[in-house]
Amino acid sequence: MIPRYLINFDLDDLPCFSCDLVVVGSGVAGLSTALRAARRYRVALVTKTTLTATATKFAQGGIASALGADDSPELHFQDTVRAGKGLCEEEAVWILVNEGPRRITELIEEVGAHFDMADGHLDLTMEGGHSRRRVAHAQGDATGSELEACLIRRLMYNKRLKVFEDYFAVDLVTAGGRCLGVLTLERDTGTLNYLQAPAVVLATGGMGQLYAVTTNPEICTGDGLAMALRAGAEVADVEFLQFHPTALHIPENPRWLISEALRGEGAVLVDHRGRRIMRGVHPMEDLAPRDVVVNEMVRVMKELDRDHLFLDATAIPAERLRARFPSIYRHCLEAGLDITQTPIPVSPAAHYMSGGVITDLWGRTRVRGLYACGEVACTGVHGANRLASNSLLEGLVFSWRIVQDLERNLGEAAGSVGARTGISYRKKRGHYPVDVNLLRRSLQQKMQDCVGFRRSREGLVEAGEFLKKNRRVLEVAYMAPPGCEVQNMAILAEMMVKAALLREESRGCHFRVDFPGEAEFWRRHIVFRLAENGLSWELRPVGKMTDTGYDWSEELSGESPAEEG
Ligand code: SIN
Repeated sequence: MIPRYLINFDLDDLPCFSCDLVVVGSGVAGLSTALRAARRYRVALVTKTTLTATATKFAQGGIASALGADDSPELHFQDTVRAGKGLCEEEAVWILVNEGPRRITELIEEVGAHFDMADGHLDLTMEGGHSRRRVAHAQGDATGSELEACLIRRLMYNKRLKVFEDYFAVDLVTAGGRCLGVLTLERDTGTLNYLQAPAVVLATGGMGQLYAVTTNPEICTGDGLAMALRAGAEVADVEFLQFHPTALHIPENPRWLISEALRGEGAVLVDHRGRRIMRGVHPMEDLAPRDVVVNEMVRVMKELDRDHLFLDATAIPAERLRARFPSIYRHCLEAGLDITQTPIPVSPAAHYMSGGVITDLWGRTRVRGLYACGEVACTGVHGANRLASNSLLEGLVFSWRIVQDLERNLGEAAGSVGARTGISYRKKRGHYPVDVNLLRRSLQQKMQDCVGFRRSREGLVEAGEFLKKNRRVLEVAYMAPPGCEVQNMAILAEMMVKAALLREESRGCHFRVDFPGEAEFWRRHIVFRLAENGLSWELRPVGKMTDTGYDWSEELSGESPAEEG
């Protein structure tokens, strides 16, 4: 059984902080939501460690949008849906490509972001799956870090914003299908708090840490996704965990990303004999969409019985390589590799969750008052395989839309929604001696071995058995983040395994060795919900993924609904 809440509580006993909006997560989606919303509302920005410890910080390549003279939103649309392999929600993609350029211009003009320029224009680069040079970048290969820094600089001066660092969000409090706030654990003291607000935005990022080999930082354990599921939101497309083709192949965790932009500037994938592996595989060769590149890499590595290949960037002039990719150059040099002279050992690593919490075109989930934005969300723009550098863009575009929706629906009523009391949750908990660190490591390894890029029924069943055997971890109440993280990981792993078993075909990031072809029947999303006896799922055709169908605004007033759970 997946419990509705990970811990027992009585709201009346908890320290309570009230505001108009709680934003959970401080990557680009969370920061840009908070920045816009705090112009008008009192915002609490909650982050599980520090403000800057996010996956955004590690984003190297950049932000894609149709800003080049030879480009158009139509072309960006076509590339996005081609990469998404028939599972993109086209209305959402149109929003992404049409509104993207305006959001980037605002980032430059209003937030003060500095992108790299060439001859007075944005220096746009190429990445996999793109038919045009449309990826804007900053400090060469440190785009995420530049964005994060300038958003934080702007936020810091806003008196309506309160930052809660080292507050781990455990669960969303709901009653009557409406989100009322967030339960948080203070990391240092273990104190449980209640952050109460009429609207909550989940911007908690991804879940790459479900795998032993990932580019995602330690914090990416999928907490927001699991929390939203427990609170009644719908979740889709979780079988489409994207693997990045080129993570630096040295034993470190997380793996250092070797940006796809290197291939955009001329680097090529080669095997141990220097043979170019993408020649003849796809018309775009090394710049084919990510799923195609990973598939070929995995095939070649198996054939050669090797655990890595090489990215050869030595044809790029050394001076240009150092100037254009300073972080990658430095990091590799520290690891003993001069990339101007030597091919870089690389292998695929878990990188990005293309699915997530289902939202409509305004970021709204099925739970009233609960929004999701960024990697945790499934707006439908990524389909079965995200197009490179569309993720920062998605965070910018949909955070803007969320704040628009808040302004329409929350209006001036924000402050008038009082704190609810009388809500509590009591569940009998077990006292099993679970070593959560050990379980975390073995779950990561099992996911790596059985739910990686290439999957089979046999492996997926093995992963399912492992999760079943360790299910009692969900019966324990942990009053500390590591335990809650492992519980979230176990719930998400179960959902991913189930989805991967159900989808008897290969599409995008999901490759079943026992079902190697794409099947027309499977132009459907697998949608999960938490039912009384555990996870329930249904298949929803493309175009009908979002099924919120409620009027958000009328929920702002009303009696405190009965206790839930
Ligand atoms: C990269 O720079 O290769 C990563 C960009 C992305 O994941 O979109």
